[in-house]
Amino acid sequence: MTQESSSLATSLAGRDLLRLLDLSADEMRLVIETAVEQKAAWAAGNHEAPLAGTAVAIILEKPSFRTRSSFEIGAARLGAHPLVMADDHSAFSRGEPVKDTGCILNHFVDAIVLRTFAQAKIEELAKWADVPVINALTDAFHPCQILADFLPIQEHGKALRGLRIAYVGDGNNMANTYLEGGALMGMDVRVASPAGYQVAPELVEECRAAALREGTGARITVCDDPVAAVTDADVVFTDTWTSMGDEAEHDARVAAFQGFCVTPELMAHAAPDALFMHCLPAHRGEEVVPAVIDGPQSVIYDEAGNRLHAQKAVMSLLMGVPAPGAAVERVLRGR
Ligand code: CP
Ligand code: NVA
Repeated sequence: MTQESSSLATSLAGRDLLRLLDLSADEMRLVIETAVEQKAAWAAGNHEAPLAGTAVAIILEKPSFRTRSSFEIGAARLGAHPLVMADDHSAFSRGEPVKDTGCILNHFVDAIVLRTFAQAKIEELAKWADVPVINALTDAFHPCQILADFLPIQEHGKALRGLRIAYVGDGNNMANTYLEGGALMGMDVRVASPAGYQVAPELVEECRAAALREGTGARITVCDDPVAAVTDADVVFTDTWTSMGDEAEHDARVAAFQGFCVTPELMAHAAPDALFMHCLPAHRGEEVVPAVIDGPQSVIYDEAGNRLHAQKAVMSLLMGVPAPGAAVERVLRGR
């Protein structure tokens, strides 16, 4: 193993994952390729538990089905004890300071997974925690979801570099994270949202700068025209128009997003073999119609299922397990 491959194999050890731009392009690719290797190894019957004797705290300040299940089962499969604190079982629910949670969990666990509202809160937790902190969704980002989303795309034979991805809908945490992930993976990312619900121009600039710095060749386009965004796309994504925390705005949002529903007519503008993806939960009849989400182009269940593999890779790499040699090789070869 060369010096370069051994330093890449452990480059994420002890780090946080608060957003995808915390990673270099090589490191994001390494997470994905590690997930590919671990998934194949598990399917082949290799059930090693490299994190035996460790523990992972999973704190959920918003509802969760997929994220909780995949982190809890993923930690257990790696040999780590998953300590789930949902609803009123975390110190946050009793108003305790973030500092106290971080400084106390340092004594009990080897990583902390947090789903919360403000990105500033997870950043503060990371400041106090000596162990890796992993973002399981904030109002701003959902990095683990996008890492998982890119697995079934590869499994369907599509290369990530140069992939044309279209996101139609709210300029929310999912849109933000597709921009970051697409920038790092060298994609042609198009985001269509109505005026007033678009991603922040500062983030677009940050992602373009990251693409330049990393030399990925990514292109980023933000517009208010779903047809323009979807034309010739290889993958079409959408998400709820009313994210957790926005429920009081539901009716106003449904009115504002008319014309942004993913229908068969909109999908007809995409590449003929385009995939449809949605992080879920979905609202059939709002952001997407059943003919699309339950139709032949939809890969939503593969997408959800790959949360397990993406997050096992994140936990193992951040908690110090070196990446598999084959994953490192593919990253270096694919530069
Ligand atoms: N996609 C996703 O994060 O699902 P949950 O909210 O159910 O965790
Ligand atoms: N944008 C959605 C994603 C859910 C996984 C939300 O934040 O509620």
